[in-house]
Amino acid sequence: MDGADASGGQAGCPSGSDGLAGASRAGLDRDPCGQRRGEAVTKARFAATAERLAALGVERIEGLRQRVGSLLELRGNEVVVDAAAGTGPMAMALAPLVREVIAVDLVPEMLDQGRRAARSSANIRWLEGDVYALPLEDRSVDAAAIVRTLHHLDRPGVAVAELARVVKRGGSVLVVDQVASEHPRDRALYERIEVLRDPSHVRTLTGTEVRRLLAEAGLALVQAYSEPDERDLAAFVELAGCDAATRDAVFAYVEELVERWETAGVGLRRAERGFRFTGTVGWYVGRADGEPVGGGRGG
Ligand SMILES: C[S@@+](CC[C@H](N)C(=O)[O-])C[C@H]1O[C@@H](n2cnc3c(N)ncnc32)[C@H](O)[C@@H]1O
Repeated sequence: MDGADASGGQAGCPSGSDGLAGASRAGLDRDPCGQRRGEAVTKARFAATAERLAALGVERIEGLRQRVGSLLELRGNEVVVDAAAGTGPMAMALAPLVREVIAVDLVPEMLDQGRRAARSSANIRWLEGDVYALPLEDRSVDAAAIVRTLHHLDRPGVAVAELARVVKRGGSVLVVDQVASEHPRDRALYERIEVLRDPSHVRTLTGTEVRRLLAEAGLALVQAYSEPDERDLAAFVELAGCDAATRDAVFAYVEELVERWETAGVGLRRAERGFRFTGTVGWYVGRADGEPVGGGRGG
C-alpha cells in the first residue's frame, strides 16, 4: 500500500511495508523531472527554514546527548547513522560519544547548516541521501537514529526498515518523534493544525503505530517512553516558515477549536498571548535481533 513501485521505488524499499492507512499518497507522484512531488515540497520547506532550524537545533544538543549514550549503550567505538539528520542536533550530540557519525539528509541546505554548526566535530560525515535508500551497506553501522522525521514521511515503515537493514546484529535503532493521540477524533483535529501549518507534514503516528513499524522491521522493542512537548502556537507556526495567510488560517482554526472546548488531544488552550498546547514526544529503541523486554514504559 505504500506505492513504492508506482513512485519508481528505489532499491531497498520494499513496497507495502508501512501498513498504515490514510497516509498521503500525493507525495508519491513524480513530476516531469522524476522527483517525487512530496520530495520537492520537503526540499522547499526545509531549504527555506534551515537557518532557523539550525539555531534551534544547537539548543537541543545537550539534552539529546544526556540521553542517547545510555539509550544506545554507547562505549565510544561505534559508527552511528543519524538518518534525516537535518542540521544535525542528534549527530552533534552523538559525536563526542562515538567513533563516527554519518549524518544523512535529503536537503543540502540543512546539511550545510549542520556542517557549519559542527565545525569542531571532525568525526561527523555529512551525506546527501534518502532515508528510503540509505547510502550504506547492510549491517554496516552499530546504531541508527531518526529524530523528529517520521511524520514527514509518506512511507515511514520503509524508513524504519532501512535503519534496521544497515544496523549490525545486536545494534540499536532509536526513533524519536511526536506521537498522535490514540483517540481518532482528537488525532484528526490535531492533524488539521499540522497540515495547515506545514506542507511537508504527512501524518503523525500513534505510539502503537511506531511500535508496529519497529516490529515489522524485525526490531525488538527494548525501550519506549514518552514526554510532554510544550508549545506556543505562534512559535510553532513560525518554525514551519508560514506566510501570513497560512498563519491566519492556523490561528482561525485553533480559535474555532478552543471556542468549541476542543483540546485536540494536546491540551489546546488560550494563553496570555495567543494559544498553547502540550504535544507528546515518543522515544523508542529497537534492537536488531535483541531480546524484547515486554513493551517498555508509556509511549
Ligand atoms: C523536522 S526535520 C528533523 C531534522 C533532525 N533530525 C532534527 O531532529 O532536528 C526533518 C528532516 O527530515 C529530512 N527528510 C525528509 N524526508 C527525507 C528523506 N526522504 N530522506 C532524507 N531526509 C529527509 C528533512 O530534510 C529534514 O531535515
